[in-house]
Amino acid sequence: MKTAILGAACLIACSSSAFAANATRSAFGALSDGSKVEAVTLSNGAGMSARIMTLGATLQSLVVPDKAGHKDDVVLGYDTAQEYLSHPDYFGASVGRYANRIAKGKFAIDGKAYTLVTNDGPNSLHGGPKGFDKRMWKIDSVSNGPEAKVVLSYVSADGEEGFPGEMKVTATYSLNEQNELKLEYRATTLKPTVLNLTNHSYFNLSGNDARDVMGNMVTLNAARFTPVDATLIPTGERRAVAGTPFDFRTPHRVGDRIRDARDQQIRYGRGYDHNYIVDGAAGTLRPAAVVNDPVSGRTMEMQVSAPGIQFYTGNFLDGTFFGKGQHSYRQGDSICLEPGVFPDSPNHADFPTSRLNPGQAYVNTMVYKFSVR
Ligand code: GLA
Repeated sequence: MKTAILGAACLIACSSSAFAANATRSAFGALSDGSKVEAVTLSNGAGMSARIMTLGATLQSLVVPDKAGHKDDVVLGYDTAQEYLSHPDYFGASVGRYANRIAKGKFAIDGKAYTLVTNDGPNSLHGGPKGFDKRMWKIDSVSNGPEAKVVLSYVSADGEEGFPGEMKVTATYSLNEQNELKLEYRATTLKPTVLNLTNHSYFNLSGNDARDVMGNMVTLNAARFTPVDATLIPTGERRAVAGTPFDFRTPHRVGDRIRDARDQQIRYGRGYDHNYIVDGAAGTLRPAAVVNDPVSGRTMEMQVSAPGIQFYTGNFLDGTFFGKGQHSYRQGDSICLEPGVFPDSPNHADFPTSRLNPGQAYVNTMVYKFSVR
């Protein structure tokens, strides 16, 4: 009620930029074991809204206006929380402890070996079978104002999924009146550990299910990427994108080179499923990617603080999972841009470190700014 009054007052007295963005807390059903799921919807006066649910601190829906003002949900996902557990593909999820792969599920810290469960061929993927995406997060705070904000937290026990050290993690989502959705992951640990926290949203700027993303124009501010082996583990090389289907330094249609199987990396990835080394200094927020859907006009500009960004075109979606509105998701229906350290960093001493020590604060910030062209 308070927020409605604020909005009404602004209609009369304020410019549109003075609208207060709102955060609304609501129930979001229950899992089959009876545990209740909650959601927080962040909305602004410019027509955008983001719904985040406590299961997996997941971005469950993201509504963005197109160039005609039509509002559509631009992220893949499910209508109910239980489906996120029954058919996991990390739709919108907060992924951890280690997003992406760790080779053979093995790494060492200070000479002590750790073994994780392997859940992706020979490798560990996205924190193991029960990663952060499948955990219930707690809502720490919800606030309105120039930006609407929710802070969620999760405490990962020492030894959970094989990782050492109790770790406290927060995910802070905020939406402002400039149509910027900001997401910040923070973590602290009680023992030296490794981590890579990211968000795994699958974007389809056409409005979830209207079209595939082959006609989307993508720009990636990255002169190099990290080539992989057949199991998608980086070889250690940092390869120039120049002259390859991986060069998105100027805008390219996603579909133009995605089937260019003369490049072994396209074969291994079944398309794009690669970590790009974002130009500029890691640790500072800098432009990493732009995605534009020429039909709807929706454009997403991404800024990241992370050293890398995984560009993935939903190559494992095979039409057997039925998402929101009973829509079948297939290869090439979406784009994932997952900012983080490089895959398998714990086993590559010369990659940016994935190690976190007690007393250190881990921060990974990403901003998704929406506009129309
Ligand atoms: C990441 C990986 C992909 C795939 C998806 C989840 O993007 O790079 O290979 O595992 O997650 O399906």
